[in-house]
Amino acid sequence: MNSFTSVTDVVNPRALVESALQIKKLPYAYATLGTNKTIGLFFFNSSLRTRISTQKAAMNLGMNSIVMNVGAEGWMLEFADGAVMNGSAVEHVKDAAAVMSLYCDVIAVRSFPTLTNKTEDYQELVLSQFVTYATVPVVSMESATRHPLQSLADVMTMKESQRSSHPSQRTSQPKVVLTWAPHIKALPQAVANSFAEWTLALKYDLTITHPEGYELNTDFTEGATIEHDQHKALEGADFVYVKNWSAYTDYGAVLTTDPSWMLDEQKLQHATNARIMHCLPVRRNVELSDELIDGPRSLIYTQAENRVYAAQAVLKEILESS
Ligand code: CP
Repeated sequence: MNSFTSVTDVVNPRALVESALQIKKLPYAYATLGTNKTIGLFFFNSSLRTRISTQKAAMNLGMNSIVMNVGAEGWMLEFADGAVMNGSAVEHVKDAAAVMSLYCDVIAVRSFPTLTNKTEDYQELVLSQFVTYATVPVVSMESATRHPLQSLADVMTMKESQRSSHPSQRTSQPKVVLTWAPHIKALPQAVANSFAEWTLALKYDLTITHPEGYELNTDFTEGATIEHDQHKALEGADFVYVKNWSAYTDYGAVLTTDPSWMLDEQKLQHATNARIMHCLPVRRNVELSDELIDGPRSLIYTQAENRVYAAQAVLKEILESS
């Protein structure tokens, strides 16, 4: 693997999930693989889990890490090719990425969508310019349309849970439900897109439920069942992934904050064995009830824990191929 920006960069996603699960058992088995190698973690947006778990993953592999909040601390970057830079942007990504590549053996980037310019966001302007102009592998720590490190941790968590939990989850085809949840702000589609992309690539039985108007880009959901009745969608679910996203068609819009879409225990009366997932951060009692987050169904902290091993599996593969 050279760069890691989506599931399509991974030759064998199942093998990568297995690698992450093995690394979780022996986190320091490759503690010298990254000796004298440096990863630069460059953030255009806030982060708790991605920043700490990716840095921890690098440390477990013996890598040095440099973290920079580019959005807040760095020069404002220009991303448009051929731009006449007489505005507020001080440095072109062409120069920044080339120079970062002189300091780092791997560049990891987190960027968010504008949620106003659909074309620019879905062309992945920021991430694709780093991939183009960096001369070292680039890892997405969430981009405008995808969050592949999160999704790898998510599928790893489901696989791990299937192996260790209730017999119904040991079936090769658990029912996975991605349910939209209310939120007070317009959030990216990235986590939902990526979760759908990874689960479908790994041949999970995926149902997506959301209010009318919240249809995701079909490039990511081809093969999933779309069910607008949340109660019906949840019936017999083995894994329920809760996430808000803003509208794709009416791009970036918050069409409803209907609290009846919040997931709580009562909604799971016909999904006795369902385990609950969320990528965090979560708005408690808006997206998900306290009882579910803090209760025995929750896999939420395991997902966060597995972010370390997912990142470690990706970095290991990149280090081994470079
Ligand atoms: N899930 C996730 O990416 O969390 P952060 O935004 O805190 O990194």
